[in-house]
Amino acid sequence: MDTIIRKALRKPTAANTIFLLKANSNLKELGLTPEETQWVKRKHRVEKSGVIEINRYKNHIFIAYCDGQGSKVEKAENLRKLGSQIQSLLEKNNIERAVMQVVGGSGDDAFNLAEGILLANYKFSKYKTKTDKNDSSFEELDIYCNEITEEDIDELSLIIEAVYHARDMVNEPVQYLTAPQFSKEFIALGHEAGFKVEVFNKKKIESLKMGGLLAVNRGSIDPPTFSIMEWKPKNVVNKKPYVFVGKGVVYDTGGLSLKPSNSMDTMKSDMGGGATVAGAIYAIAKAKLPVHVIALVPATDNRPDGNAYTPGDVITMFDGTTVEVLNTDAEGRMILADALSYAKKYNPELVIDAATLTGAAARAIGPNAIVGMQVKSETEFLELQKAGQRVHERIVEFPMWDEYNDMIKSEIADLKNIGGADAGAITAGKFLEHFTDYPYIHLDIAGPAFLSKKDKYRTVGGTGVGVRLLYEFIKSKA
Ligand code: BES
Ligand code: MN
Ligand code: ZN
Repeated sequence: MDTIIRKALRKPTAANTIFLLKANSNLKELGLTPEETQWVKRKHRVEKSGVIEINRYKNHIFIAYCDGQGSKVEKAENLRKLGSQIQSLLEKNNIERAVMQVVGGSGDDAFNLAEGILLANYKFSKYKTKTDKNDSSFEELDIYCNEITEEDIDELSLIIEAVYHARDMVNEPVQYLTAPQFSKEFIALGHEAGFKVEVFNKKKIESLKMGGLLAVNRGSIDPPTFSIMEWKPKNVVNKKPYVFVGKGVVYDTGGLSLKPSNSMDTMKSDMGGGATVAGAIYAIAKAKLPVHVIALVPATDNRPDGNAYTPGDVITMFDGTTVEVLNTDAEGRMILADALSYAKKYNPELVIDAATLTGAAARAIGPNAIVGMQVKSETEFLELQKAGQRVHERIVEFPMWDEYNDMIKSEIADLKNIGGADAGAITAGKFLEHFTDYPYIHLDIAGPAFLSKKDKYRTVGGTGVGVRLLYEFIKSKA
């Protein structure tokens, strides 16, 4: 269900029209009747911001006022929210096509409004048999605005597609999206966007001695995979690559440290970090950004079975570190550790991981922010936070202080895979840090990765959080 976005070359007449206005815009340009004009003026006086709807029976008119106060990033977010309101009206009225005309506002304003409409228009309907009920009927948005270029529209389209792909992967249940299938999705994305994909199978993973990934996979009947995606066009601006690492737990039962059943309900989303980094490199490649980027995704499900790894086991990781497993549900850090050690071979400029790593992160900040931690990358972290403000995927910094190391010391091995009852998001980050020797940013997306109900332009289920963030960050390097 892709929505087409196009640049409209003519002013809309008699079409379903979305007008973007400023408070001081001249309503004459809208071609309304005197009665309609009066009504719009009155509505606007009372409601200030929001969407005004005129039903002409043959066509609909939606008027969005964008005179919100606040900073640039707040205005941008208000426009996305207005976009999501318009999308619900389009859906309610079964509208298939609409033209957006910018009467007051910039090209950026038009971009943000359209972004809100399109992000809100996502549906995961693969498993619905009566598609007419579930699928939004809205299919085509034409944008009439002198300040928006064809390039802007192409960029908007590829960002939306990237987020849709990430959401699709998160919404797929494990019965379809096993680790090998997850890798196949990456291959398809690489094919479409032009980045290289290499997939290590179980044999290769065994020969590399990726002990963390193999341990988590021991309770599974499906083999693990380790996917390497690479975008390196000829004109790259960076000598050393940016490396993304995404958690690819295609289902997390907790393993032998089994989760209570209702905590398991949403655990098909535990590959959200993998989906995010794949979506991001897809957007970066499609936009042909001149930046060398690599994305690594270790993938497996985490299940209890006869040969499952157990609490008490000591695992030798890819880099030789020994880890005492005291909870098999702390599996994300086991597979990420191997990927982070593997990343050393690229001599990276910076490594950023994205992972639905801890319930503690979700409890600490809920669905409205990402927990971020950094090592040796203060400036890059600030830049990433700024990118996060621009796309409204905000990051709150948690500490990487050495004091927390004591909490993951083991009596019999180099590390144990859980800390204490406190500071769960931080001890998980400290565990990961052990496997790095480069500038490193850890993003725990457990809070915002998956929503139980729609929130404005973030649709129910997988949100694709982090895709727009990482794209925006890499774009600022280009
Ligand atoms: N995938 C979960 C974290 C999670 C929980 C993500 C809820 C999204 C929503 C992770 O593998 C996990 O189980 N973490 C444990 C760690 C604990 C055993 C140290 C947790 O957070 O309880
Ligand atoms: Mn777990
Ligand atoms: Zn998990």
